[in-house]
Amino acid sequence: MDGWMDGRTGGERERDGLYKVFESVAQKYDVMNDAMSLGIHRLWKDTLLRVMNPQPGLRLLDTAGGTGDISFRFLNYTRSVRDRQLRRRARANQTPSWQDISSGYGSERVELPESHAVVCDINKEMLKVGKERAENAGVTSGLSWVVGDAEELPFDDDKFDLYTIAFGIRNVTHIEQALQEALRVLRPGGRFLCLEFSKVSNPLLSRLYDAYSFQMIPVLGEVIAGDWKSYQYLVESIRKFPDQETFKEMIEDVGFARAQYTNLSGGIVALHSGFKL
Ligand SMILES: C[S@@+](CC[C@H](N)C(=O)[O-])C[C@H]1O[C@@H](n2cnc3c(N)ncnc32)[C@H](O)[C@@H]1O
Repeated sequence: MDGWMDGRTGGERERDGLYKVFESVAQKYDVMNDAMSLGIHRLWKDTLLRVMNPQPGLRLLDTAGGTGDISFRFLNYTRSVRDRQLRRRARANQTPSWQDISSGYGSERVELPESHAVVCDINKEMLKVGKERAENAGVTSGLSWVVGDAEELPFDDDKFDLYTIAFGIRNVTHIEQALQEALRVLRPGGRFLCLEFSKVSNPLLSRLYDAYSFQMIPVLGEVIAGDWKSYQYLVESIRKFPDQETFKEMIEDVGFARAQYTNLSGGIVALHSGFKL
């Protein structure tokens, strides 16, 4: 059937095309991420967690969460904070016998609740790969996987303490609609954090980055994943995304307070954040 005569709107066609891109790259997604960014995407994601600094017991919604990178980091981070807090409390315990310390340790565990992460993604192939990763890593609790659209999240209002979207918002057809949904599902006081490719201001770095992106990334896509077209699309979608200041204004316009951003790697990536007050 002719693509223009199939009754779908432009946005729907774009979304279907994008669905196919991630469906086709899902199996090779993690390998490609390392290859394309020379592993640096791990540092950008670690920075997001350091800035978020989540405490135990919080609920995270990781939208466009793909294979779960941010959620895995969130659970590791909150578990290590929780273990440190429990060890500190156990050391501060005046009771001399180890039985008392050990039973106290157990009861304090109840006082420090587990964190929970929900990985939500429109593409079930990406989630499937993520679930396999979780099983292989022995992550069995505190994590759920939900198929859902960032523009129409399948969650109640005020449900999450934290909302993240890493390298996902540029793929969303109506960015404002996704931001509104983020605001809706966050509880008052909750925080929005977004990692996304952005504008490089240094002209020399910008030229090098453009040359690398347009000449190397589709080649890597072809060699590693046998898929030139999807990676060509990814490079082009990065260039279409609003710059740091414009995106910050969009975040403010939907109603987030204290919107700010930090450039990472000279602006190749920006970390935007804001609060629901
Ligand atoms: C580049 S990947 C990022 C995955 C992960 N957040 C990471 O940083 O590794 C982009 C993800 O956005 C998802 N996506 C695209 N449009 C979406 C939408 N409207 N709602 C939810 N997820 C979407 C894709 O399926 C894909 O998994």
